[in-house]
Amino acid sequence: MMNPFQLAGKKIIVTGAASGIGRDTVKLLYELGAKCVLLDINEAGLAETNHLIDDSGLYYMCDLTQFDAVQATLQMAKDQMGSFDGLVHCAGIPSVVPLRGLTSEMYEKVQKINTQAGLQLAKCFQEEECIMGKDGAPLYLFLRFMD
Ligand SMILES: NC(=O)c1ccc[n+]([C@@H]2O[C@H](COP(=O)([O-])OP(=O)(O)OC[C@H]3O[C@@H](n4cnc5c(N)ncnc54)[C@H](O)[C@@H]3O)[C@@H](O)[C@H]2O)c1
Repeated sequence: MMNPFQLAGKKIIVTGAASGIGRDTVKLLYELGAKCVLLDINEAGLAETNHLIDDSGLYYMCDLTQFDAVQATLQMAKDQMGSFDGLVHCAGIPSVVPLRGLTSEMYEKVQKINTQAGLQLAKCFQEEECIMGKDGAPLYLFLRFMD
C-alpha cells in the first residue's frame, strides 16, 4: 500500500533554511531521503546547512518579502530540478515583545515575512506552471521541534 508520508526521492523547498526550524527541517528531510532546495536571506547560513546534508541540496539566497525575486528564484529551482512535491515555510522573525512595546513597524515587518511571504509563496507554488508537481502540496509549519 502507498505510504503518503514516504519522502524518499521527494523534492521539497524549505524556506528559512539557514538556521533554526528551517535547518532542522532540511536535516530531517535529508535523513528521510528527500532532496531539498534551501531558501533564505542568509547565504553563509545556507551554505552551512547544505554542508550538514553533505552538500546534496541546492540553495538560493533570496529575500522572501521581495516577491518578484521569489518567483524568479522558484523558476530557477524548477529549471534545475523539475517540479516539486512540497514547500515548507519556516522563514520568519522570532520576536516576543510586550504589547506596550509593540510598534506598527515591528508588527508589519514580522507579518510580511511570517505570514504574507508564506501565503504568496504557497500561491505561486500552486499557480505557476509546473513549479508544484501533480501531487505536491505546500505545508505551513507552526510546530516546535523538540530536542
Ligand atoms: N523556535 C521556536 O521554538 C519557534 C516556536 C514557534 C514559532 N516559531 C516561529 O518560527 C519562525 C522561525 O523560527 P526559528 O527559531 O527557526 O528562527 P531563526 O531566526 O533561527 O530562523 C529564521 C530564518 O528565517 C530567515 N529569514 C528572515 N527573514 C527573511 C527574509 N525576508 N527572507 C528570507 N529569509 C528570511 C532568517 O535568515 C533565518 O535563517 C519564526 O517566525 C518564529 O517566531 C519558532
